[in-house]
Amino acid sequence: MTEQSVLVTGACGEIGQALVQGLKARNGYRIVTADLAPLPDAIRGLPSEHVQGDLVNRIKQFYDYDFDIIYHLAASLSSKAEVATEEAHRINVEGTMQLLMLAAYKSEKYKKPVRFLFPSSIAAYGMADGNEKKQAGRVKEEDFNSPHTMYGCNKLYCEKLGTYYSRFFGQRHLDSNPPAMLDFRSIRFPGLISAFTLPSGGTSDYGPEMLHAAAQGKPYACFVREDTKISFMAMPDAIKSLLMLSDVPRPALTRQTYNVAAFAIRAGEFRDRAVEAFPGATITFEPNPNRQGIVDSWPEDVDDSRARADWNWQPDYDADTFFEDYFLPGIRKRYGR
Ligand code: SER
Repeated sequence: MTEQSVLVTGACGEIGQALVQGLKARNGYRIVTADLAPLPDAIRGLPSEHVQGDLVNRIKQFYDYDFDIIYHLAASLSSKAEVATEEAHRINVEGTMQLLMLAAYKSEKYKKPVRFLFPSSIAAYGMADGNEKKQAGRVKEEDFNSPHTMYGCNKLYCEKLGTYYSRFFGQRHLDSNPPAMLDFRSIRFPGLISAFTLPSGGTSDYGPEMLHAAAQGKPYACFVREDTKISFMAMPDAIKSLLMLSDVPRPALTRQTYNVAAFAIRAGEFRDRAVEAFPGATITFEPNPNRQGIVDSWPEDVDDSRARADWNWQPDYDADTFFEDYFLPGIRKRYGR
């Protein structure tokens, strides 16, 4: 079998590291990674090549490769993007646009759609206030698409941009003999939690930060109220969903953006579970108004029935198994406690 040529941008981030490991474990890929940072130890030696630097500046370099699949993970997350909006737009939108143009060009040139996997987010939603959030419950992909954050606006727009390039680019779909167009697929992730890495710059970060702090015996002041509820997912499930969506034959897909869900949980429940696992853990709640506002605009939970119907998605971990089978064993190993 010939190897598939894969590009993973943002490879040094949390999803990136886990995805590179996941692809490597499957075999059959020649992996090129890209990131502003050098490769961390966890994935050093796994890719065939690492391109370090700013994607937008270096985009020409990527035209020398013929990628079958692009996982475009590089992004500035929601809290960071709020304090550096112009930089966020450049990373989140311009970077995506450049790669979409590359994938569109290669798809047409080789008459073979380049698969383009894009992580979107629950930040694409925007609930007016806590009441609307409570009443809405589990939201469908097309509901409440009015993000309150720069990051959410960037993600929602890039979902649309990806759809445009894969279906309507230059109105080529109206040609009598339309060319091959890229194959854009996107997943709206909830907050992700890894036992091995920590997020940075996001707003769902209070979940993983609290758990990692408790495991290390460090006090933690949570920046949202204890009744704050959004959905979360174990990192292995996030990788599973990305790989599943990459594998599905295109005709099985009824849309280009899918919700995935695992467990919706309050910040206070994280605290309770952390204290149970690590007695003596000191966790306080000191809400930051801006970050609280961001999480209040995100839904309590998402409806992932389309992903379940179209590509048999289902998570391996619910709240209980997340802690017992994934997080606690992993984190104990990591911190030796
Ligand atoms: N985890 C992300 C953030 O908090 C949401 O996609 O920004």
